[in-house]
Amino acid sequence: MSRGTILITGTSRGIGASLLDICLGQGWNVIACQRKVKGEIGTLRSNCDSSCHEIELDVSREDLVQKAFRSIAQSFSRIDVLVNNAGVFPEPTDTPFESLKPSWFHEAFSVNLLGTAMVTQACLPFLKKSSNGRIVNISSGASSITKREGRRYCYGASKAAQNHMTRGLANEFFDQNLTVVALSPGWVSTDMGGSQADLDSKEVATQMEKTIRQLTLQQSGQFLDRFGQSDTYLW
Ligand SMILES: NC(=O)c1ccc[n+]([C@@H]2O[C@H](COP(=O)([O-])OP(=O)(O)OC[C@H]3O[C@@H](n4cnc5c(N)ncnc54)[C@H](OP(=O)(O)O)[C@@H]3O)[C@@H](O)[C@H]2O)c1
Repeated sequence: MSRGTILITGTSRGIGASLLDICLGQGWNVIACQRKVKGEIGTLRSNCDSSCHEIELDVSREDLVQKAFRSIAQSFSRIDVLVNNAGVFPEPTDTPFESLKPSWFHEAFSVNLLGTAMVTQACLPFLKKSSNGRIVNISSGASSITKREGRRYCYGASKAAQNHMTRGLANEFFDQNLTVVALSPGWVSTDMGGSQADLDSKEVATQMEKTIRQLTLQQSGQFLDRFGQSDTYLW
C-alpha cells in the first residue's frame, strides 16, 4: 500500500538521493527533482509498492519551476509531502566576513530561500488536495540566531531566512491542515557536509522518513531534528 506522494528536491546526490532511496523502499510514490535527470532512477529503484517520477528542476529558476510543475500536473493532482532539500553552501568554510563575495550571498539566497519559496508556491495547489499535507524545509543548526556559532555568513543567513518563512507558512496554512516544519538532518557526510561529518546519509534519511511519515499538525511551526524532536535546535 502506497504511503502517498512525496516530492523531494535535490535528489541527485547527498541527503536527497538517500531520502529518495529510503522513500521508495518504504512504499512512497516519489517525485524526484534534480537539476539534470540521468534517466535511470525510475528503472533502477522502483518496485510494485512505490514509483519514481523524475522531473528536471533547478529550484533557483522561476521559469524552470513553472515548467516542472506543468509537467507534474500531467501525472499528479495531489502531493502529500514536499521536501525542500536542494541547497547550497557557497562560501569556503570559515571565510572571514571581510573576504566574503556578494555572489556567495546571492547564490545562497537564490537556492536556499528563493528556491524554497518558488517551489512551495508552485506546490501548494497540489498539497491542498491532500488530507495530510506536509512541507518539510531542510534547515540547519547553522541557521540559529540564538546559538550563533562559527562564520558561515551566507549559508547561515539564507537558512535563517528560510526558517522565518517556515514559521510564516505554518501560521498561514494551519487552518487549512497543512503542516510546515523546519528539519535539520545533523552533520552528515555528503559533498556539503564533508568527509569528517559524523552521520551517514542513509541512516539519516531513514530517520527523516520516519519523522516525515509521523508528522502531525500539532508539530507545525517547529524546528525539528531528524528524530522529530523539537528541543535540539534553537531558532
Ligand atoms: N550535510 C550536512 O551536514 C547538512 C547539515 C545541515 C543541513 N543540510 C542541508 O541538507 C540539504 C542537503 O544537503 P547535502 O548535504 O545533501 O548537500 P549536497 O550533497 O551538496 O547536495 C545538494 C543537493 O542540492 C542540489 N541543488 C543545489 N542547487 C540546486 C538548484 N539550484 N536546483 C536544484 N537542486 C539543487 C544538488 O544538485 P546538483 O547535483 O545538481 O548540484 C544536490 O542534489 C541542504 O538543504 C543542506 O543545507 C546538510
